Amino acid sequence: MQPRLMLAPMAELSHRALRELVESFVNQACPAEGKALSAESAAPKPEYFTEMISAPGLLAGGPLEKWYLDPGPRPERLVYQLLGADIDELAAAAALLDKTGCLGIDLNMGCAAPMITRTGAGVRWMKDAGRAARLVEAVRRVTGKRLSVKLRLGAGKDFPFGTDTAGRRSGGEELFSVLEDFCRRLVNAGAELVTLHPRMAGEKFRRRARWEYVERLRRALPVPVAGNGDIASAEEALAKAAAGPVMIGRLAARKPWIFAQALYGAGTPPDTDLYRSTRFLEETALRFLDLLAQYQPPEFHLSRARRFFHYYCDNFTWAEYVRNKIKRETGLAGIARVLNEYCRGNESRSLTI
Ligand SMILES: Cc1cc2nc3c(=O)[nH]c(=O)nc-3n(C[C@H](O)[C@H](O)[C@H](O)COP(=O)(O)O)c2cc1C
Repeated sequence: MQPRLMLAPMAELSHRALRELVESFVNQACPAEGKALSAESAAPKPEYFTEMISAPGLLAGGPLEKWYLDPGPRPERLVYQLLGADIDELAAAAALLDKTGCLGIDLNMGCAAPMITRTGAGVRWMKDAGRAARLVEAVRRVTGKRLSVKLRLGAGKDFPFGTDTAGRRSGGEELFSVLEDFCRRLVNAGAELVTLHPRMAGEKFRRRARWEYVERLRRALPVPVAGNGDIASAEEALAKAAAGPVMIGRLAARKPWIFAQALYGAGTPPDTDLYRSTRFLEETALRFLDLLAQYQPPEFHLSRARRFFHYYCDNFTWAEYVRNKIKRETGLAGIARVLNEYCRGNESRSLTI
C-alpha cells in the first residue's frame, strides 16, 4: 500500500512558502539516487493542510485573509482548516471555501490553546458530541468537498490512568469508548476522514503521542483515520503510513525535505551527505526566506520566519545560539545575514542531522 502523507495544519507555519519549499523537494530529482518522481509516479504526493483559518475572520473579509486563502502551489492537494465556535459561521465559511479548487475542508476540533478554547472553538467541540455532529451536518450540507475533522484523544487535562477493581488499567478504555462514539457521530453526520493527534487537550506536547489509539480508531471507524504526532524520521513516517494516512507537523519545519525522502521510499538513504552539508542547510534556509518574502505579506514575515527557524535551527550543532541570534533580528535580511555568518563560519563543523 502506498503511503499517504499530509502536512499538518500549523499556525504561522503551514502557509504557501513552506508548501512551496516542501513541494520543490518532492518534485526535484532525488539527489542521492539521481531519480526523479515522474508525474505518473504511483506514490501519492503529500496533501497540504493550511494553518487554521478563523471562520468569523474569513466572513469579515479582512485585508489579510487572501494570504490565508492562497491555495498554491497545489490547490488540488490543499485542505483548508477552519476554526470557529459557531455552527452557522463555520457553515457560511465552508460555503465560501466550497467555491475554491481545494481538495477538502477540515474542521479544527483539536486546538487546545486557552485563547482558542475560551471562545468555545478547537478542542471544546469534543465536550459536546451532539453539537459537534450538528456542526458536521451543517457543513456537509454546504459543501461537496472532502470533509474531515482533526481532534485529540479527549478534551480533558490528563490521560486517565485509572484502574478497575481488578487493578487493571481502565481509564484508557473508557476514554476510547467516548472517543469512538464521538467519531462515529461525526462520521454519521458526514465526516469522511478523521485525524487523531493522540494526546489529551491538557498535555500539549508532553508525554508521547499514543499511536495505539490511532490503530484502534482505524479498526473501529468505516472511514480513513490519519495519525499524527511525534513523527521523527522519513522511515518512521513510511512505516506508519503502511497502516493508514500519516500527518507530519513540526518535522516538516525541521526538515522540509522529509516528504521527498519518504516518497522516494526504501533505498533512499535518509541522511545522505547532501542532507548533512552546511551549504545545503544554508541554501534551503535562504530559499525559505525568499519564498516567505514572495508569498507572505510584510506584516507576517518576522513572526513566520521566527516560528520556522525555531524548528529548523535544530539542524545546527549550535542550534540555540543561532535561534537566539535570529530572535533578535527585526527583518528577513538580518536573519539571512545570521545564517550566512553561521554557515560560512561553520563550514567544516559537524552537524547534528
Ligand atoms: C506551531 C504550531 C501550530 C499549530 N497550529 C495548529 C493549527 O492551526 N491547527 C491544528 O489543528 N493543529 C495545529 N497544531 C498541531 C499540529 O497540527 C499537530 O497536531 C501537532 O504539532 C503534532 O504533530 P507533530 O508531532 O508532527 O508536530 C499546531 C502545532 C504547532 C507546533
